[in-house]
Amino acid sequence: MTVGHSPSTAAPLRGAPAPDVEGTDALAGQVVVLRPTGSEHVSAFIDILRHPEVERWWGGYDLERVRRELLGPHGYAVELAGDVIGLVIFHEEDDPDYRHAGVDIALHPDAHGQGLGADALRTLVRYLFTRRDHHRIVIDPAATNERAIRSYERVGFRPVGVMRRYERGADGTWHDGLLMDLLREDFPG
Ligand SMILES: CC(C)(COP(=O)(O)OP(=O)(O)OC[C@H]1O[C@@H](n2cnc3c(N)ncnc32)[C@H](O)[C@@H]1OP(=O)(O)O)[C@@H](O)C(=O)NCCC(=O)NCCS
Repeated sequence: MTVGHSPSTAAPLRGAPAPDVEGTDALAGQVVVLRPTGSEHVSAFIDILRHPEVERWWGGYDLERVRRELLGPHGYAVELAGDVIGLVIFHEEDDPDYRHAGVDIALHPDAHGQGLGADALRTLVRYLFTRRDHHRIVIDPAATNERAIRSYERVGFRPVGVMRRYERGADGTWHDGLLMDLLREDFPG
C-alpha cells in the first residue's frame, strides 16, 4: 500500500513511542514522520492530490506541477509507519522586515480525522520556529474548509480575517480564504 491507513490501524499508534529519525534529515512528530521529498514520492503525491476529497481544496496537480512545486527543500512527505499518507510544504518570505513562513498540507482521506494532520503541521511549525528561526507562520485555508480550520486551531493558529474572493476553485469561481497566523510565543508546542 502506498497511501492510506484505516482508523483501526492508525489508532493503536497513538500510544507508540515517538518515531526514531536519528541520523536522518527527517522530522519526528508524535506518530508521523516528515521525510524530505524526492522523486520516489511523486506517484504517492499524485494519488493523494487527485483524490476528489483533496482535489476540491488543492486542485489541478499533474506530474509536472508536483515535481516543480512539491519536491525539494521546502516539502516533506508525511509518513505513518513507513507509508506515505500526505505532504506538507512551506515557503519563506525573506525580506527582513516582513520575514515569516507560510505552510500548507494535504493528507490522503483514509488518514483524515485522526489528529494526524495536526501532528504533521505541529512538527513542521516546530521546525520553522526552532531551526529556521521564524517568529510568525501563516496558513490560508478556504473559508469553508471547516475541518482544516479546526485542525489548524488545534495546532495554535488563530483566524486573522477573511480574504474575499481570494482563490479560484476548480469550478472557475473565486472563493473566500481565511488567513490564520501563529506567533512563536503562542505555540503550545
Ligand atoms: C485539512 C487536513 C490536513 C486536516 O487533517 P486531519 O488529520 O484530517 O485533521 P485533524 O484530525 O487534525 O483535526 C480535524 C478536526 O476537525 C474536526 N472536523 C472534522 N470534520 C469536520 C467538519 N466537517 N466540520 C468541522 N470540523 C470538522 C475534527 O473533529 C477535528 O477537531 P477536534 O480535534 O476538535 O475533534 C486534512 O483533513 C486534509 O488533508 N484535507 C484535505 C486537503 C485539505 O483540505 N488541505 C488543507 C488545505 S488549506
